[in-house]
Amino acid sequence: MSEPILALDKVTKTFGHGTSAVHAARAISFSLRAGRALALVGESGSGKTTCARMAMREYQPTSGQILYKGRPVEAAKSGEIARYRRSVQMIFQDPFASLNPVHTIAHHLRRPLRLHRPEIKGTAIGATVRELLQRVRLDPDLVAPRYPHELSGGQRQRVNIARALAVRPEVIVADEPTSMLDVSVRLGVLNLLNEMKQEMNLGLLYITHDIATARYVAEDIAVMYAGQIVEWGSTARVIDNPLHPYTRLLLSAVPDPDVRFDDPKARLMPDEVDDIRRRSAAPQDEIVEVEPAHFIRMI
Ligand SMILES: Nc1ncnc2c1ncn2[C@@H]1O[C@H](COP(=O)(O)OP(=O)(O)O)[C@@H](O)[C@H]1O
Ligand SMILES: [Mg+2]
Repeated sequence: MSEPILALDKVTKTFGHGTSAVHAARAISFSLRAGRALALVGESGSGKTTCARMAMREYQPTSGQILYKGRPVEAAKSGEIARYRRSVQMIFQDPFASLNPVHTIAHHLRRPLRLHRPEIKGTAIGATVRELLQRVRLDPDLVAPRYPHELSGGQRQRVNIARALAVRPEVIVADEPTSMLDVSVRLGVLNLLNEMKQEMNLGLLYITHDIATARYVAEDIAVMYAGQIVEWGSTARVIDNPLHPYTRLLLSAVPDPDVRFDDPKARLMPDEVDDIRRRSAAPQDEIVEVEPAHFIRMI
């Protein structure tokens, strides 16, 4: 397997102090590799966005390290930090909030080209904008002259993906990229991210509360609850054979019949659900490799 582009190494983030401290991330470790996706899955409040913001270097970890190609980013020189910022691009949940209503789509794509790819000049800029839109399966003639409000949510999210691709990143962090989109267009956007990962050899961190969607994009999965990764490994192994009670709980709430963990013994009563949450939230250092490429944190 290739070397990681980006890795979190025992990264912790605590907000506040003393009795009011929130342990948003506890000793989180994972790595992102070229051409592969990791799905970071968990319900709201489990700490996913905190991990994304640390990966983006928007939050400084309380402890632990962010490694870029094996080296701590903290130690990086300013030129390397600029390279890191270009190399790691983010796609947000709300496809509208990240676009400026007074500018056309073409304008949104020309900007990162001007900033990050000064070698592209003159008429080549327009040609690159067209290429980027084609890459995300949008018709350049139709979409380039439009304003954000004239597009659908799915089209806007494709524009955001094109904009991230404009700077030729190595890693894309997509935080709930489809949760604000119509159900009918979600799969198209996930498939597009999957294609981009393959075609452009990108490392992808796909953050979602919907464990069922992990299969569409991610080779690897990490299930997070109360700031800890409780189960991780190959997506197929974890979803087909979930062994941590919290993962089973997430899967039991999934309405898709193809992925429901449909063992009658696994159907949970409300007091069992509370018990699983309580026990899964307790800090725990002990980890077990239950089969090759499949780990759980003890409970
Ligand atoms: N800037 C912040 N200040 C204080 N608490 C925060 C901050 N960001 C997140 N939290 C808390 O950290 C926990 C994890 O939040 P978050 O990372 O947003 O989870 P998720 O993305 O999985 O919903 C929550 O309890 C949240 O309230
Ligand atoms: Mg979040």
